Amino acid sequence: MKPRRIRCLVTAGPTREHLDPVRFLSNPSSGKMGYALAAAAAAAGWRVDLVSGPVALPTPLGVKIRRVVSAAEMLAAVEKLFARCDVLLMGAAVSDFRPRKTFAHKVKKGRAGLVVEFAPTVDILKKVSAHKRPGQLVVGFAAETRHVETSARRKLKEKNLDYIIANRVGRAGAGFESDDNTVIFIGRDGARTTLGPAKKTEIARQLIAQLRDNMPKIKE
Ligand code: CTP
Repeated sequence: MKPRRIRCLVTAGPTREHLDPVRFLSNPSSGKMGYALAAAAAAAGWRVDLVSGPVALPTPLGVKIRRVVSAAEMLAAVEKLFARCDVLLMGAAVSDFRPRKTFAHKVKKGRAGLVVEFAPTVDILKKVSAHKRPGQLVVGFAAETRHVETSARRKLKEKNLDYIIANRVGRAGAGFESDDNTVIFIGRDGARTTLGPAKKTEIARQLIAQLRDNMPKIKE
């Protein structure tokens, strides 16, 4: 039997949680790591769906993109595509909070003492990985400012992941906006590999190669 193409779902970029039409809560994710993974997966011959938050990057060749803004929109898009993917790479920097109340019109600056209350967003990765089917690989990311590996291993367990890609953020030359990165690739069996420092495109190529080597055989 001829093996069919691997179906890969990648998320990338930040989400924006709007307070009003002109203000939102977000983070500095550039989407570069996620886009590099989508490009590397497509270059490896995989069928790639990319669910992207707002970023200023061109769509990689051969990748089908769906653009979203909020965590709720990203959840809806991922839930639609998850069942038929063989591997989920959850690279997006999903906002953990959203304003509890949103305003339909711009809040005027004259408004005295604006207090914004936040509510948690849904943990997309945890939610979908709870109904992972046998053979499906779920890969999460961990963006940490300290205790990188310990926190990443905790997330690997708590979110029922097969792999987690941990990186330190908030220091020059690594993480969010940079072209370079250093990551630790950790499996649920405890095995770890450090990749980089290298260009995100090169790290992405190495990560896809590692995943392909560990992928359950896919048949038509
Ligand atoms: N994630 C998600 N939905 C959220 C938050 C995070 O799917 N609402 C995913 C991210 O895409 C990433 C993984 O969960 O793959 C870990 O994200 P991270 O921000 O490192 O951790 P959190 O789960 O937000 O935990 P903490 O705030 O404790 O660091």
